[in-house]
Amino acid sequence: MAAFFTFVGRLHPVLVHLPIGIILLALLLEWLGGRPKYAGMKPAADLALGLGVLCAIASCCTGLLLSHNGDYDQGLVNIHMWLAIGLTVVTAVLYGKLNGRPATRDTKLLSTASLVLIFLTGHFGGSLTHGPGYLTTDLTPKPPVPALHPVADIQHAVVYTEMVQPVLHDNCYGCHRAGHVKGGLRLDDQTNILKGGKDGAILTPGSPNASLLMKRILLPLDDDHHMAPKDKQQLTAAEIKLLKWWITTGAAFDKEAAQLPQDNEIHAVLAAFHEGTAGPVGASATPANIADSDMPAAPVKPAPAEALKRLAAAGALVLPIATGSNYLTVSFANDTIGRDALAALPLIREQIVELKCSDLPVGDGIIDIAATSPHLVRLWLDHTKITGRTLGRLDTLPELKYLNLTGTSVDEAAVRTLSKAKKLKEIFLYQTNVPKSSWPALQAAFPHTILDSGGYQLPKLTTDTSIVRQPAAQKK
Ligand code: HEC
Repeated sequence: MAAFFTFVGRLHPVLVHLPIGIILLALLLEWLGGRPKYAGMKPAADLALGLGVLCAIASCCTGLLLSHNGDYDQGLVNIHMWLAIGLTVVTAVLYGKLNGRPATRDTKLLSTASLVLIFLTGHFGGSLTHGPGYLTTDLTPKPPVPALHPVADIQHAVVYTEMVQPVLHDNCYGCHRAGHVKGGLRLDDQTNILKGGKDGAILTPGSPNASLLMKRILLPLDDDHHMAPKDKQQLTAAEIKLLKWWITTGAAFDKEAAQLPQDNEIHAVLAAFHEGTAGPVGASATPANIADSDMPAAPVKPAPAEALKRLAAAGALVLPIATGSNYLTVSFANDTIGRDALAALPLIREQIVELKCSDLPVGDGIIDIAATSPHLVRLWLDHTKITGRTLGRLDTLPELKYLNLTGTSVDEAAVRTLSKAKKLKEIFLYQTNVPKSSWPALQAAFPHTILDSGGYQLPKLTTDTSIVRQPAAQKK
């Protein structure tokens, strides 16, 4: 039954043209019928007016049904509705007075009112379907369209205006802007973003996990509530990471990138926005933080949907490394990791190329999971509870290139068990139990690997204003 009502409601945009045309014609005929020369037209004029009233009533009914699906700007809907009801009432009264009777002063007034109401109702109806100002947009100067483009001075860019807004513009405005208000939500300016949608606020500054905006984006692609909807352009990994960082750092609308805390991962994301590779075109060429040459070449089958669902439910952020790729990058939205996430990770072991466990309360168990993920390229275990006793299991990983052990209790012996991992390019060992005195010997044991003992190597940014924080200060 609901589907039938929806169907009838959707007839509204077609049906509304009938009362407009018929009432306009009826008013013309009534006016002509008042002149002696055309007096014979009077009965036809009355008939037309009666028909116009019936069509107006039908339009009101379909309009009411359509308005209930909630996808329209409620303010505009109310104005349009009351104007339409006014038009129907005025025209019906007019019909009652004119049917078989000559025009009077009253009917002339009512005719004028009906004429004005037709134009106003039509105008607001048009604004609903085409967006306000549909008629006049080409007459008024347009504000610049903030589509995604390379950001020249990335650290001095206002994060919302130069990055967040363009991402929303390119992916969400289609259904969430003035005149296109799906889910009761507009994302095209600050006031409306803060106002939220039919379910209330969409942002919880500081907490991406609690923010409906983020939750909807992170739902599995097949979920009906996933945003943007499955058949539309999808956000890239870099764009999602940017939104997550923006919310984590307080969802400010006026802060420059340099004013917000940054870690290694967000440096890579900002670099992608700076180079113009953050959007879907760039993403397929160079994903946010894996160099092309680092990607496994062999094709892999898609990860099981059930596993992705479980991981998403457990707060894991699982993203393809590039549009159309089945390889996945896995991180966690907050500083906890559920038992279920740990249980589900092995189900996608074939697809994982990046696993980011920074700051999570995980122990040596995570190493067993990583060690059985054959395509793993990068692994972050910094500030976790690993002991290093089982670290050697990672040396069977053929693709592993990057390993971050910063802030863990691994010691020199543990690191040495990795010496057979030939492809390892970088191991981060800042704040570990490797004593300073053993660096030279350790480095000699790893001739092809950079052992990083402190500070961070940042991706190249052409601005000279990047903030380099001490790793300890990076902990959230
Ligand atoms: C093709 C149209 C379309 C696009 C594009 C789209 N959405 Fe939606 N969105 C909808 C519809 C329809 C709903 C209401 C149904 C629902 O809740 O799933 C909705 C609902 C939402 C809601 C829930 C609002 C509430 O209060 O319940 C959020 C949040 C949201 N969208 C965010 C986004 C974001 C962020 C983007 C861009 C990445 C986006 N949407 C792109 C159609 C779209």
